[in-house]
Amino acid sequence: MIISFEGLDGCGKSTQIIKLKKYLESLGKKVKVLREPGGNSISEKIRDILLDKKNLNMVFETELLLYLSSRAQLIKEEIIPLLESNHIVLLDRFIDSTTAYQGYGRGLDIEVIENLNNFVTLNGKYIPDLTFFISLDPKVSLNRVTTRGEEINRMETAKFEFFEKVHEGFQLIQQKNPNRMIKIDGSLEPNEVFESLKGKMEKRIKI
Ligand SMILES: Nc1ncnc2c1ncn2[C@@H]1O[C@H](COP(=O)(O)OP(=O)(O)O)[C@@H](O)[C@H]1O
Ligand SMILES: [Mg+2]
Repeated sequence: MIISFEGLDGCGKSTQIIKLKKYLESLGKKVKVLREPGGNSISEKIRDILLDKKNLNMVFETELLLYLSSRAQLIKEEIIPLLESNHIVLLDRFIDSTTAYQGYGRGLDIEVIENLNNFVTLNGKYIPDLTFFISLDPKVSLNRVTTRGEEINRMETAKFEFFEKVHEGFQLIQQKNPNRMIKIDGSLEPNEVFESLKGKMEKRIKI
């Protein structure tokens, strides 16, 4: 089973993934968390190129194809073997981030992106069983990121309007995929967010 987490930086993905991993492990499940872009040595190198603040001249097409390259490698090298060995795979960002950031945010053709996502997921065979979209006001997200104390990367140097467009994009993607994507209110306390997420998950899928 694949479960992905989506939403703006700072919305609480990593926080909730840790909680869900612990919970699933307490039920005796084998769980693996993978982050996008990254997760294996080739994808981590691609991640470095994508997030390096020196690469401010990167064109949007390059950015898109690098994310897709990283994803192709992650799926074949990591996700497929994990699924075959009965793991639940928790993904920190996946296909919807590309549609939201490079499509709705950067303005690249949504249909091209959907086709590329379809291509690397082997005709949709490896799309998530469930996706949590943690929805949070872009101002609040940005504020959490700047107070988290980590250095800002290239993707995070964009203007505020970019994050607003990405946020809108996530809403639209969720509306288009209501069966796969569950919207979660990220403005509550971390434990409340988790209780809501767990309740909604257990209604949708049998763990
Ligand atoms: N529900 C929440 N309410 C308030 N702060 C939160 C909440 N969830 C996470 N945080 C804090 O906000 C920051 C970003 O959270 P994080 O889980 O790293 O988000 P993401 O992985 O989506 O970027 C962290 O400092 C984290 O401790
Ligand atoms: Mg995170």
